[in-house]
Amino acid sequence: MADSPHAWWRRQSLRFRLTVVAVAVLASALALSASVLLSVLDRALIGTVDDSLRQQAQTIRVHADAGTLTIPITTHDGTIVQVLDASGRITHVTYGADRMVPLLDARARARTLRQGRATFLDGRPYAIPGPLRVVVLRADRGQTVVAARPVGEISTSLRTAGRVLLVGTPLLIVLLAAASWLIIGRTLRPITALRRGASEITHTARSRRLPVPESRDEVHQLAVTLNGMLARLEEAEQRQRALVSDAAHELRSPLASIRLQLEVALGHPEGQEWPETAEGVLEDAMRLSRLAEDLLALARLDERGGVPARREPVHLDEVVRQTADRYGEARLTVCEPVVVRGDALDLSRVLTNLVDNAVRHTTSKVEVALTADGVLTVADDGPGIPAQDRERVFNRFTRLDSGRSRDEGGAGLGLAIVRETVRAHGGGVRLEDASPGLRVVVRLPVAE
Ligand SMILES: Nc1ncnc2c1ncn2[C@@H]1O[C@H](COP(=O)(O)OP(=O)(O)O)[C@@H](O)[C@H]1O
Ligand SMILES: [Mg+2]
Repeated sequence: MADSPHAWWRRQSLRFRLTVVAVAVLASALALSASVLLSVLDRALIGTVDDSLRQQAQTIRVHADAGTLTIPITTHDGTIVQVLDASGRITHVTYGADRMVPLLDARARARTLRQGRATFLDGRPYAIPGPLRVVVLRADRGQTVVAARPVGEISTSLRTAGRVLLVGTPLLIVLLAAASWLIIGRTLRPITALRRGASEITHTARSRRLPVPESRDEVHQLAVTLNGMLARLEEAEQRQRALVSDAAHELRSPLASIRLQLEVALGHPEGQEWPETAEGVLEDAMRLSRLAEDLLALARLDERGGVPARREPVHLDEVVRQTADRYGEARLTVCEPVVVRGDALDLSRVLTNLVDNAVRHTTSKVEVALTADGVLTVADDGPGIPAQDRERVFNRFTRLDSGRSRDEGGAGLGLAIVRETVRAHGGGVRLEDASPGLRVVVRLPVAE
């Protein structure tokens, strides 16, 4: 099937296309400059001849006017001169010039005079090879000065120059094509290396980087940018893998515990306290369901990529009051009316997670406060969190507790959910020392 030249052209390699375009542009530029050169050269050479010819004719005319013409007329550069009287008869000539036949007949003389410019004349009828340049001037008493000079040499040298250009230009173009092909190939080599590197990555699926060329050019920047992207992708993938393995790990112990309790109960059905077993199983089931809920919340946060699910006006003071009511230990110190834009359910989860932690760690009291500028604080007087761990605890599946409080706590997702939700709402979370205890400060932008 024949396809269009356009499609064919687009199928060619970049190297080929760039070379062809570069060579085409260079070739037309060279051809143009060669023709300009030849025509300028031609005009300049003929112009020089004309100037000197006119000067000669001028001098002869002065002599003719003064009646001081010699026989023969002498010129020093081979100019042929004929001086004619009013009747068109030749009166004076240079040595060797025709004394009988004028170079130009009366009509041609009149035309050349009228034009005031030098003209070409075929020299062959006068036994002169090649063309002649002729100037006609009028002198006193009806005399006419006709001066001519052969310009065959100029045509010959122009022809020679033309021939040199005709051979030289294509040669130069071939050289340029070869040089362009090589240079473009060299320029594109890093791109080929990039492509090869990329295909190896896809094939091996291992932690790999693209080859970065040494030159500080666009390809270098591209390689660096792509490597940055690969690093981020790899990081995300690693995080994902870690999350899956952490989640599986967290699932294992309650599931094992359920299984053990059921196996024991079924193994010795006689004298079995079934309600006790059911309570144990229920506790583990609750842990599982909390974990599933937290994972789901995180997955939703990831999915939305840092923006809240909704942007409705939420009366934060009401959410705070409801949450504090649910926990007997929590005391509300300040609660000023605050409206923020966002998702009421997500914001109430933030509060629940924080109060939950505080209640779990406190020794005596938990204080919750909300001020009109959108600052929410939850403080307890428990062991607090050492300064070096205050950033780490926000990571997923990070727990510092040991012993009893660990059994009560979750999987270490609570603070991660808090921080990501608050950030999605355009706010920030900070952990402070309440000496004793921990104070969590959440700042949310207040709606207009
Ligand atoms: N109020 C607090 N006082 C002391 N430690 C805390 C408090 N809140 C959180 N922590 C520590 O931060 C860790 C992470 O908290 P969180 O993300 O809510 O996970 P979880 O509650 O599931 O353990 C907890 O395991 C605990 O060690
Ligand atoms: Mg928690």
